[in-house]
Amino acid sequence: MCVKRTFPRRARPACDPTTRTDQATNRTRTQVGIVGAGPAGLLLSHLLALRGIDSVLVEIRSRAYCEARQRAGVLEDGSVRLLREAGLAARLDQQGLEHGGIYLQFAGERHHVDFRELTGGRTVTVYAQTEVVKDLIAQRIAAGGSVHFEVTDTAVSELTTDRPVLRFTDAAGVTREVTCDAIAGCDGFHGICRPAIPPDTLTVRERDYPYAWLGILADVPPSTDELIYAHHEDGFALHSLRSPTVSRLYLQVAPDEPMQDWPDDRIWAELARRFALPGSGWELQTGPVLEKGITPMRSFVSAPMRYGRLFLAGDAAHIVPPTGAKGLNLALADVAVLAPALDALVHGDPGLADAYSQTCLRRVWRSTHFSWWMTTMLHRSPGAGPMEAELQLSQLRYVVDSRAAATSLAENYTGFPELDTHLPTAH
Ligand code: FAD
Ligand code: DHB
Repeated sequence: MCVKRTFPRRARPACDPTTRTDQATNRTRTQVGIVGAGPAGLLLSHLLALRGIDSVLVEIRSRAYCEARQRAGVLEDGSVRLLREAGLAARLDQQGLEHGGIYLQFAGERHHVDFRELTGGRTVTVYAQTEVVKDLIAQRIAAGGSVHFEVTDTAVSELTTDRPVLRFTDAAGVTREVTCDAIAGCDGFHGICRPAIPPDTLTVRERDYPYAWLGILADVPPSTDELIYAHHEDGFALHSLRSPTVSRLYLQVAPDEPMQDWPDDRIWAELARRFALPGSGWELQTGPVLEKGITPMRSFVSAPMRYGRLFLAGDAAHIVPPTGAKGLNLALADVAVLAPALDALVHGDPGLADAYSQTCLRRVWRSTHFSWWMTTMLHRSPGAGPMEAELQLSQLRYVVDSRAAATSLAENYTGFPELDTHLPTAH
């Protein structure tokens, strides 16, 4: 049954009396201070605004930089639903490419894993993180949200009081101090919020992988209708896409691989070799490389995701290797839980805030396991011998031969557990 829920409070007008600036001292008061204008911070400020909660968001980079930074590309169906229910999906609904499965390639064979059929109709949508971020920034600016780009000296303090403080220097060089009811650390893996927590209060679980991804964005129509995850004796390759005319491809390389060792011709030749399907007539189409970069691979979970009135969300608290396309989706899922928790907290009810970390960590660990499983099944570890290769191939064959194993991949890839957006549904 579909239950229609309504928000407890109406959204406040853009000029909100709870955000007051004292011109002489540059002191400001807001309900939630947010550090970081990535997907987590931007979506949180929007979800809070829908609930009538005021926020101040600060970001060290420029708006143009945030909008151009190439990263993830696959949205789980729960993430799409969340963006749609939050009124953010106008372009996503026009330009997003719904995918009902993926190809797994190994031992010279390409197999389709049909998500729709295995999961009762669930899908994923290819829509770049750059586009999600552009949509969110445009919305926040249009709504008159308080968003400061190109800040410096971000710092958070008084975290164990009920009036934590966010300090920063704005783009004009003005030093500002914002007293908040709560602060959300959405500042990614290298941000300042997690390090502001006493280390002896955190439990960190971490794994580095002995390989990296060399990613390219190429001005060429995709050579495939759905993503290809390819196991190859010389290393993993992934064919993804951004639009009907732009492809996104990744190659497993060594973590310390110098980018200059990979001219475009070498990248295309290696991709063609790893995706080759002799006798099938399939060919990888090549084109101008628009952008390239190397991403290290790491699993990292820091718990709890809260210290006093500081709440961590997204990459600030956890990182997964990209093989399962989970990083962006986890960041969005965290703030779907955090927004109602902060709403209740600023209105005197700490229950959801107290449960925030535990609620999120269930999904985080499921995605951490799935990303590790996909990664270790598909990549070649340096020094791995024929035994490891046979075990990987056996696992891959089991996934494509067993409906139970294929269903497990499909339900994890499309998002497990299914996301509760905590927003009223349209029907
Ligand atoms: P981020 O997007 O990192 O946003 C954090 C923001 O905080 C940034 O804008 C940063 O500039 C800002 N910030 C940092 N410090 C401060 C400070 N002191 N003050 C103010 N602002 C600050 N995931 C996939 O699923 N597939 C992929 O292919 C993939 N590729 C990736 C490639 C790279 C190079 C990286 C780093 C990540 C990739 N990811 C990928 C992961 C995915 O992009 C992240 O999980 C996602 O961006 C997390 O969103 P977030 O909002 O938590 O953090
Ligand atoms: C993309 C990235 C991933 O990590 C993945 O598993 C699938 C697609 C992408 O950037 O399109």
